[in-house]
Amino acid sequence: MINIKQFKKLLSNRRPKYAIILGSGLGAVADGIKNPLVIKYSDIEGFPTSTVPGHKGQMVIGKIGETEVLCMQGRFHMYEGYHPSIIKEMVVSLKQIGIRQLIITNAAGSLNPDFHPGEIMFISDHINFSGLNPLIGPNDESIGPRFVDMTSAYDAKLRSRFKSVAEKLKLKTHEGTYLMVTGPSFETPAEIRAFRTLGADAVGMSTVPEVISAAYCGLKTVAMSVITNFGAGMQKEKLSHEQTLSCAALGASSLTRLIKSFFTEK
Ligand code: HPA
Repeated sequence: MINIKQFKKLLSNRRPKYAIILGSGLGAVADGIKNPLVIKYSDIEGFPTSTVPGHKGQMVIGKIGETEVLCMQGRFHMYEGYHPSIIKEMVVSLKQIGIRQLIITNAAGSLNPDFHPGEIMFISDHINFSGLNPLIGPNDESIGPRFVDMTSAYDAKLRSRFKSVAEKLKLKTHEGTYLMVTGPSFETPAEIRAFRTLGADAVGMSTVPEVISAAYCGLKTVAMSVITNFGAGMQKEKLSHEQTLSCAALGASSLTRLIKSFFTEK
């Protein structure tokens, strides 16, 4: 068991500036890392452990190309029973060990008929429909402000760097608004119709607490969704976690290439 101070010491000869949060079925991004340092969340003092199938609950630290990165294989969801302030603690820990840029991935359902399963959506804004906020509770002004400006929570520059890599790879990508629900039930057809009316392009059960926490402590963020299905009622089949994982596998290969190329293309 190690605490944050010991963790920082452990990283002193690697010093990653980028952290990558890997969503459902997207763990493969970390598999290409040579000589990885692997740390289980359960080995870090005060760190919660993730319970969802398909999530490993560990960090993999090492180089993609010439760049040191820290990959989070598994995240914490509100539907597991966690208060989102746990996500704030996790993101603030990343800032404290030297991370400056956060790359977030997730699996999401499409609300936009033009955004198909297997394609990637860059998130340019979000609607927090989770009913909670990770910053609720006492505030430490030395970490971030009480009232956080969300205008530039999704960093336009970092996003455009990713977009130009995607263009070079001829990947089909979109840009849109992500709406977060807590889950774990999928949405009803009526909810999907309502969310489309609100102007959302994709719906999912994660990411928003991470992005709010990153804006709070000053990390630059890019967030990308692998579209795994159309929202309930937009097509005939029922939704399942298995379908999410199998479509995520398709999109994951594109996203893996995109992230690797971001670090290796000059
Ligand atoms: N809804 C919510 N979360 C999701 C979905 C969905 O349709 N697909 C993948 N994650």
